[in-house]
Amino acid sequence: MSDYQKLVEKARSAAALAQNTEELSGARTDFLGKKSVLSEAKKQLGLLPEGERAAAGRDLNEIRKLIEETFTDRETAIQDEIWGLQFEAERLDISERLESLRRGHLHLITQARDHLEDVFVGMGFTVAEGPEVETAWYNFEALNIPDWHPARGNFDTIFVDLGDPEEVMLRSHTSPVQVRTMEKHEPPIYIVAPGRTFRTDSADATHLPAFNQIEGLVVDNGITMGDLAGTIDSFVQAFFGSEVKSRLRPSYFPFTEPSAEFDISRPDGSWLELGGCGMVHPNVLLNCGIDPEEWQGFAFGFGIDRLVAMRYGLDDIRELVINDARFLRQF
Ligand code: PHE
Repeated sequence: MSDYQKLVEKARSAAALAQNTEELSGARTDFLGKKSVLSEAKKQLGLLPEGERAAAGRDLNEIRKLIEETFTDRETAIQDEIWGLQFEAERLDISERLESLRRGHLHLITQARDHLEDVFVGMGFTVAEGPEVETAWYNFEALNIPDWHPARGNFDTIFVDLGDPEEVMLRSHTSPVQVRTMEKHEPPIYIVAPGRTFRTDSADATHLPAFNQIEGLVVDNGITMGDLAGTIDSFVQAFFGSEVKSRLRPSYFPFTEPSAEFDISRPDGSWLELGGCGMVHPNVLLNCGIDPEEWQGFAFGFGIDRLVAMRYGLDDIRELVINDARFLRQF
């Protein structure tokens, strides 16, 4: 039995010495193969007296099991080493990719839109929404622009090939949300409606065919042009800071009367045209089932993209949509 014990120990050190699978299988054959001490001993079993054979056979099997385990364990260890080396050799340096996968942030336009909403919500407005695909009723007719009206030509509308000709379109301004809001809600109404708008303009440094506007609508008792001017002034100061001034210039829109264009002052003293506004035209109130004798309102609408371009001093508005990460990352 002590000879067997020695055999197991020898097998262990032989297995430990084997550096690769070939060496290991050589050693394995030495200890477990046909010509091994163990196999020889098994052949000799028959020479033992009958009463001892069974016990000796069990011992031999036990030893064989131990030696087999030794080689299996070593084989697993060698395989792990090989894989480890392989992983090391095939490892990729992905640190550069991780760099470009770093956490992103909201787009400049979305940031501005959120900020605008915050400013108006702080002034008591709620946020409304409408669809980007509109019918002629919401985009034009209810806004006091019948189909013969020359103002339709000012809107460079993109029509959708659906229903009657020029009946369905991508909204050319956010003013249809005024109508949708007044149809659904009784005054008093204080809403802003930011969203995407579309015109046939080709993209250049100051135009985008898909752009963003924010609409404002107030309908209440005794609302005047003074409330409109004050609201625009407060908003401009809250958004840009107290050094920026606003002014109104007489203008024309079919859905407001009187109408004005509003500008904000640039640091160099010049004025930037931001949007249009005015007192809601009585016909628009009537179209939405609101009595103009009882209620008055004002509305305004302006481009968010332009406002962003002005705030960040962009000289080409197209920067906002070409998705160059080097540009976007700055904000
Ligand atoms: N909808 C107008 C435009 O897109 C702006 C506007 C809104 C004017 C509300 C007056 C009142 O040009």
